Amino acid sequence: MKKIFAKRIKDIKASEIRELLKITENHDIISFAGGLPAPELFPVEEIATITSKLILEEGKKALQYSTTEGYIPLRKKIAYRMNKIFNTKVNEDEILITSGSQQALDIIGKVFLDEGDVVFCERPSYLGALNAFRGYGAKFSEIPTDNDGMIPEELEKTLASTFKRKLIYVIPDFQNPTGRTWSLERRKALLDIANKYQVMIVEDNPYGELRFDGEILPALKSLDTSNSVMYLGTFSKTFCPGMRIGWISVGEEVLEKCILVKQGADLHTSTINQMQLNMYLENYDLDTHIQRLKKVYKCRRDALIAAMSNELPLSIKFNIPDGGLFTWLEMPDDMDSRVLLDICLKKGVAFVPGHSFYANTSIYNTFRINYSNMPEDRIVEGVKRIATGISELKHH
Ligand SMILES: Cc1ncc(COP(=O)(O)O)c(C=O)c1O
Repeated sequence: MKKIFAKRIKDIKASEIRELLKITENHDIISFAGGLPAPELFPVEEIATITSKLILEEGKKALQYSTTEGYIPLRKKIAYRMNKIFNTKVNEDEILITSGSQQALDIIGKVFLDEGDVVFCERPSYLGALNAFRGYGAKFSEIPTDNDGMIPEELEKTLASTFKRKLIYVIPDFQNPTGRTWSLERRKALLDIANKYQVMIVEDNPYGELRFDGEILPALKSLDTSNSVMYLGTFSKTFCPGMRIGWISVGEEVLEKCILVKQGADLHTSTINQMQLNMYLENYDLDTHIQRLKKVYKCRRDALIAAMSNELPLSIKFNIPDGGLFTWLEMPDDMDSRVLLDICLKKGVAFVPGHSFYANTSIYNTFRINYSNMPEDRIVEGVKRIATGISELKHH
């Protein structure tokens, strides 16, 4: 039968990262491509213990339908953690549990975006968010960035000249894909500009708790005095992504709409997963677990940076992230990271070419490297292979 698809599906392409991840499932490949946490650090035994306790003690509740808003004890704990770590002042009524923050992005798209509305995002930005918003017919305006975040003058200029402006989407902490963190000044400037032009901000913060160096900076949400920030959090990177537990923190007016949309999508996030996580938080110390993750990821970052400094030519620029899972490399303009990837795959090493992370522009000389998913010796070997790939690319 001839399939007549909805218009909205036309612009959504298969994520190149997902396609690439299929290739890199082959264990012989050293993969810097995914954004995967280290599975050896998942608290498997603790989860086994609480799961059996939960099923035996509260099985009937854990296996039943539950409310769309989410399990209240978990929402309370999330609000408490946000306030403690990121200096916000939220309570459980301002938290909606979502199935990962990816669902939160989709919900926000459905609540706010009409065909042709413009989302202002960092250049480059998180592909999963761009695709979620694209599904609702969004157009993007990419704002240039530097090491301190979006450049405020550029944002203001673009906002002033855009008619259907709707949302500003940012990842201020250890951004995906660049690993960069916004300075405090830029955070304040963003809020001022967003208020001036009356545009809501989506603050997506999956990596903020994974800081190895320096002090945690206040979340945009904590600096927000006019209810203009929708904060997205997740346990994917601090606990485990397979649980699919994230949240939106936002004022009542928007939250009500988000609840309606989530109801239509999946009724509620898995009751048992929410209760497992809640029981973990009651019986174990998530902060100690996160300290362990940070220690391992910091060593991996250090190994990566040392190897890149030793092996890569000086013409390849990269940043040293203070936390999170990624760094970003920039080659001279005439070098194409897609061609480099082809060469590197033959050498058994993979990364994500940067062009996927640009909403509109075609830039081909950048790429993203993830360092959380491999031990140091593989990281060093992988960088050596990329270095040989680069020298072959130069003579291509
Ligand atoms: C910036 C950003 N937002 C959202 C997500 C989605 O995370 P999850 O749905 O697992 O919470 C990711 C995952 O990598 C991400 O990097």
